[in-house]
Amino acid sequence: MIFAIETSCDETAVAIRSEQRLIASLVTSQLRKHQPFGGVLPELATRLHVVNLPLLAEKIMAQTNLSWPMIDYITYTAHPGLPSCLHAGSVFAQTLSLILNKPLLPINHLHAHLFANYINRDNQYQSTTVALGLVISGGHTHLYLLIARKIILIGHSLDDAVGECLDKVGRVLGFDYPAGATIEQWALKGQPKYRLPIPQTTNGLNFSFSGLKTAAIQKIAQLKQQDITHTRHYLADFCASLQQTIIKILLQRLTYASLCFPIAKLLLIGGGVSSNMAIRRQLHHWCKQKKISFWVPDREFCTDNAAMIAETAYRQIIFTQN
Ligand code: KG4
Ligand code: ZN
Repeated sequence: MIFAIETSCDETAVAIRSEQRLIASLVTSQLRKHQPFGGVLPELATRLHVVNLPLLAEKIMAQTNLSWPMIDYITYTAHPGLPSCLHAGSVFAQTLSLILNKPLLPINHLHAHLFANYINRDNQYQSTTVALGLVISGGHTHLYLLIARKIILIGHSLDDAVGECLDKVGRVLGFDYPAGATIEQWALKGQPKYRLPIPQTTNGLNFSFSGLKTAAIQKIAQLKQQDITHTRHYLADFCASLQQTIIKILLQRLTYASLCFPIAKLLLIGGGVSSNMAIRRQLHHWCKQKKISFWVPDREFCTDNAAMIAETAYRQIIFTQN
């Protein structure tokens, strides 16, 4: 039995995984507490993690009818994330590990977003399969090559993450934080009729989203001056344009990655932004054209959760045993 803890940002989460499957997963979102500030306040998030963790731990043990001596491993998000939030999770994990005298497994949060693809699925990890892994979240846009049990970073955003771009442009559009899901809803009713730039980077595997963010904010100001922001379809069309530009950027980088690494026959995606249905659909379509398999986690496991931490720890344990 693995007991997992996630506290990298504004979700406090715990999960339990047995050797066979995920047993339970609990997530407490602090979203409402942070919304008045338009982003996550690290001090507040840390304090809430400290309060929530023991409550969630007790709740999950009661819910699953398990007792602490039945836990064999303690695992937690070690990095990356907000330092004080990570510290809160790490102290809780270390305390449990000491009290129970059970091993402690620190986990990389971004790798876990990719391993969320294995939760409750029969996908047996084939260490011989070479895969591309794309993490698109609020804090990161990272592209990996998964090869022979190694996870190698081959590209990343040089500035803003894709979710950060959505959240910051969303704020200017008048949406609450985080804005990604709201932008997706508006985009459903619109047409991508506004042209926004596709930023280039010297290394075609890297990303850049701050130029797109600035251009989108400037475009909103320009449309306001032209009184277009009052028109009926403006919000929906603007959201559709932003979303479609982001998809184009992702596909452009993936196309280059598939040229650089033609042996990769699988694409794994993960992270909060991968819950976007338009992104899932269009990346899947691209994979079909390239004859690459496509995996994306169930939507509940795209945003931050501890089930993905438990899943990653489980894979690590298996790898070291074999
Ligand atoms: O992975 P995550 O929960 O936290 C981080 O590790 O950053 O990702 C949060 C990000 C936010 O930027 C949020 O706006 C975005 O995921 N997001 C979405 C959607 N749902 C959440 N972006 C686009 N479409 C969505 N449906
Ligand atoms: Zn995350």
